[in-house]
Amino acid sequence: MKKRILIVGACGQIGTELTTELRSRFGSHKVIASDIREGSEELMRSGPFEILDATDYYAMEDLVMRHEITEVYLMAAMLSATAEKFPLKAWNLNMNSLFNVLNLAKEKKIEKIFWPSSIAVFGGTTPKKDTPQRTIMEPSTAYGISKQTGERWCEYYHHKYGVDVRSIRYPGLISYKTLPGGGTTDYAVDIFHKAIKHNRYVSFLSAETTLPMMYMDDAIKATIGIMQAPAGQIKIRSSYNLGAISFSPKDISESIQEHLPEFRMEYKPDFRQAIADSWPQSIDDSEARDDWGWAHEYDLEATTRIMLENLSN
Ligand code: SER
Repeated sequence: MKKRILIVGACGQIGTELTTELRSRFGSHKVIASDIREGSEELMRSGPFEILDATDYYAMEDLVMRHEITEVYLMAAMLSATAEKFPLKAWNLNMNSLFNVLNLAKEKKIEKIFWPSSIAVFGGTTPKKDTPQRTIMEPSTAYGISKQTGERWCEYYHHKYGVDVRSIRYPGLISYKTLPGGGTTDYAVDIFHKAIKHNRYVSFLSAETTLPMMYMDDAIKATIGIMQAPAGQIKIRSSYNLGAISFSPKDISESIQEHLPEFRMEYKPDFRQAIADSWPQSIDDSEARDDWGWAHEYDLEATTRIMLENLSN
């Protein structure tokens, strides 16, 4: 089979690293990057790039046909904190872009889809510790509502039209190559930048707010792993729970202090505290581990070391 991949939202936090990894595995010319605007120089130089508005069905269809795309990774989305400011804009972007790829697959114009869900599908009534795959889901954020609805539609298109769509519920993702934008877990990236520059950080979440998190290399491995697995192994077609580490702002500040003893934290929770309070603290991801062999590698210690080393350079 001639695999040709389109990444929608290639210039974002996940898209940038996903593009690099897919290009190194499958060849630069086989991986088309797209986004609403141009990305980093490195990404732009590494292979084909197209400007694409993910909500424009005809533009996406045209790109898919021109490049004979077989797989789409839809990484464009408005994240939780920004979505609270622009709920309808978030709904339009997050839902319409998903319908566009689902309908392209329904019409057999593409063969396979990756679509990211999130821990934000859970809500205040969900069990917080080792949150099960199937449990109460009453998301209270605009972002969470769009992701939960998206999961229902993915499963619907799979059962009704045989669409091969695969998804994982990402936790907060930590990386040094690209900044996240507009999420509630962004503090866990920002803290490293500020620690190196100013030796202090003002956290917008309280000291004890524990959330599920993951180092980016693990997230990329999971993303490509679920897409490479034989279709029969993907038993869940809404979205898989995916876990790695869980920590609070206090935990991460102590981990940084082991390298930078002068580092100091302050806590000034803002509107994002309520978002974080509605999310799980840890995730039971045993079905991803059993069905398609997911295993994480990076713990908090390793993540802290890698982040500080790379950002100091
Ligand atoms: N990391 C995302 C956010 O904070 C959740 O998927 O919005």
